[in-house]
Amino acid sequence: MKTLVIVIHPDIRNSIINKRWIEELNKSPEKYDIHLLHEVYPNGKIDVSAEQKLVEQYSKIIFQFPLYWFNCPPFLKKWLDEVLTYGWAYGSKSGYKLSGKKIALAMSVGIDENEYTQTGKYNYTLEQLTAPFELTFTYVKADYQPLFAYYGIELNSSREWIERSVPLYKNFLKSF
Ligand SMILES: Cc1cc2nc3c(=O)[nH]c(=O)nc-3n(C[C@H](O)[C@H](O)[C@H](O)COP(=O)(O)O)c2cc1C
Repeated sequence: MKTLVIVIHPDIRNSIINKRWIEELNKSPEKYDIHLLHEVYPNGKIDVSAEQKLVEQYSKIIFQFPLYWFNCPPFLKKWLDEVLTYGWAYGSKSGYKLSGKKIALAMSVGIDENEYTQTGKYNYTLEQLTAPFELTFTYVKADYQPLFAYYGIELNSSREWIERSVPLYKNFLKSF
């Protein structure tokens, strides 16, 4: 069964790391289907029923995005607000269409990992910052999994640093 990787990046052409990850995953089309939200909906209008039908076909779903202002890019929030409807995602007998599906976040992060600790500069871990995702996916009875994050791109965007992330992300996806 393939994994659906939903990518939310408002400027993928100028992306370094998310673009590199997509390039890598595209080498294994038998394992991954990539769904670039901003490219599918350039005018921002989401086809809710198409998204629901797409998601229903997969038992493993990744939401991949860069961390923006300690959160997801806004199009993902819009997607959640619109696609997770009453009667489909929750709230009726026939609902809970995400029930049991494995779901995880995969994030690229500008700041260093040691800043995202309870003793670090920002006092919050990424797991704490992403608690609303955990709550949302738990609420709709999905099987929410630990996140993948690759840190430090703002300080080090060298080719070497970017390439180091590729096997880490692939290993994460392999065991997902
Ligand atoms: C609008 C904006 C907000 C950002 N906010 C954060 C942030 O809150 N914390 C952080 O660690 N990095 C932050 N960054 C850095 C991005 O996470 C980083 O540039 C991105 O992960 C790189 O991915 P890309 O090469 O695919 O664009 C921000 C970047 C932008 C453009």
